[in-house]
Amino acid sequence: MKITVIGSGYVGLVTGTCLAEVGNHVMCLDVDPAKIALLRAGGIPIYEPGLEDMVRRNVAAGRLSFTTDVAESVAFGEVQFIAVGTPPDEDGSADLQYVLAAARNIGRHMQEYKVVVDKSTVPVGTADKVRQAIAETLAERGVDIGYSVVSNPEFLKEGAAIEDFMKPDRIVVGAEDDLAIERMRRLYAPFQRNHERILFMDVRSAELTKYAANAMLATRISFMNELANLAETLGADIELVRQGIGSDPRIGYHFLYPGAGYGGSCFPKDVKALIATGREHGHAMRVLTAVEAANDAQKLRLVDKIVAEYGEDLSGRHFALWGLAFKPNTDDMREAPSREVVRALVSRGATVSAYDPVAADEAARVLDGTAGLTFAQDMMSALQDADALLIVTEWKMFRAPDFEALRAALKAPVIFDGRNMYDPAWVRGLGFVYHAIGR
Ligand code: UDX
Repeated sequence: MKITVIGSGYVGLVTGTCLAEVGNHVMCLDVDPAKIALLRAGGIPIYEPGLEDMVRRNVAAGRLSFTTDVAESVAFGEVQFIAVGTPPDEDGSADLQYVLAAARNIGRHMQEYKVVVDKSTVPVGTADKVRQAIAETLAERGVDIGYSVVSNPEFLKEGAAIEDFMKPDRIVVGAEDDLAIERMRRLYAPFQRNHERILFMDVRSAELTKYAANAMLATRISFMNELANLAETLGADIELVRQGIGSDPRIGYHFLYPGAGYGGSCFPKDVKALIATGREHGHAMRVLTAVEAANDAQKLRLVDKIVAEYGEDLSGRHFALWGLAFKPNTDDMREAPSREVVRALVSRGATVSAYDPVAADEAARVLDGTAGLTFAQDMMSALQDADALLIVTEWKMFRAPDFEALRAALKAPVIFDGRNMYDPAWVRGLGFVYHAIGR
C-alpha cells in the first residue's frame, strides 16, 4: 500500500518506518525542514533503539521517503496517518491545532478517496472535527471527493517502540464504514501474528480507549507510590507487597513499581486531558485528579527525604544524581522527575553533578541556565565529593555498581534511590545509609 504519515515525531516516525518494513511504500511529512534534512541524511531526530537502522534500511530499499511538500504527501498515500503533536493547553486539554491543520491540508490537496487515520492521541470527538475540517476545505474547493476518518490510537512505549509496533498486543481501530474497515484490515494484516489482534469499534470508543489505557496505568503507579510511602512509615516492604498483590491475576505484575513518579510525553498529558474532558462534560474525574496530585508530590519524594536528613537549607551540600531521562532507554526529558528534583535541590542552595548515559544533552537543553547543576562525563566521576547519591532513572548500568569505588568517591556513604535498584539489606550491610521508596 501507499501510505503517508503526517508528522515525523516519535509516533509518526515509528509508524511510518514499521509500515515500510513490512513492504509498504511510506512517505513521511514534517513541517520542520531541519528534521526532514536530518532524516534524508540517514539520521534520526530522537533516541530509539533500533530505529535508525530500520530507517536506513527502508530508505535504501526505496520504501521510505521524507518530504516537507504537503501537496506531494497528500497525493502519495491512499491512507493518510495524522501523527502530529497534541500538546496540552493552559487548562490541560489537548491542543488540536496541528491535527486540524493536517486535516485541512488533506482536504485542500486530495484528488481521490482517502482513509484519514488519527494516530495522535486526541480527545473523544476529534474524528468528528477532522471530518468537518476536511468537509469544509473540500466545500471551499467546490469538489465532492469521498473520504473516511478512522481512529487508530498508538500504544507504543518509548525505548521499546519498534517491538511494540511490530508485535502489538492489540490494534484498536475505530472505523464506521466498510471501505475504511477493509483498508485498515489489509494495512494491519502483517502484524496479526497467530490470532486476530485488531479490535474494530466505533470511533468514539477507540478514542476513549487510548486515554483509558494510559489513565489506568498512571493510576496503578500513583496507587503504588502512595502505598509505598505508607509502607515506609509502617515498616513494611513494598517490594514484597507488590509481589503479594501482583500474583493475583486480576491485578497482575505490570506497572506496579513505585518510584520517583511517572513522567514522559503521555501519562502526565493524557491524565490532564481526560480530567479536562470530564470537566467539559460535567464529570468530576475524582480518581484521576488524585492520581495527578499524588504524582506531583511523588516527584519530590527524594527531595523530602533529603530535607528530612539535612534540613531545608541545603547550601554547601553537593549531590550526585544518576539518571535524568523520564525512564531508561530514551533521551526524553518531558515531565521527567529529575527536572523537579534538580530544581528543588538547587533552589535550596545545593549543587548537583548529574550523569545520564543518553539524556545529558537534552537535559542540558531543558535545564539550561540552572545554576548549581553540572554534568559529569561518567557515572563514577559524578560521585566525587558528593554528600549523597540520588538515583532517579533506572538505567541498567546503575544496577551493579562497584560499591567500594562508590564509597571511596562519595563524601559520605549515603544513597537516595528513587527506583529501588538494590537489595536494601545487602547495601546496608556494605555500610551504606540507603533510602529507598517504600522499603
Ligand atoms: C506510555 C504507555 O506505556 C504507552 O502504552 C503509551 O502509548 C504512551 O505512554 P511511555 O510514556 O513511553 O509509554 O513510558 P512507560 O514505559 O509507560 O513509562 C511511563 C512512566 O511511568 C515512566 O516515567 C516510568 O518510570 C513510570 N513507571 C512505569 C513507574 O513509575 N512504575 C511502573 O511500574 C511503570
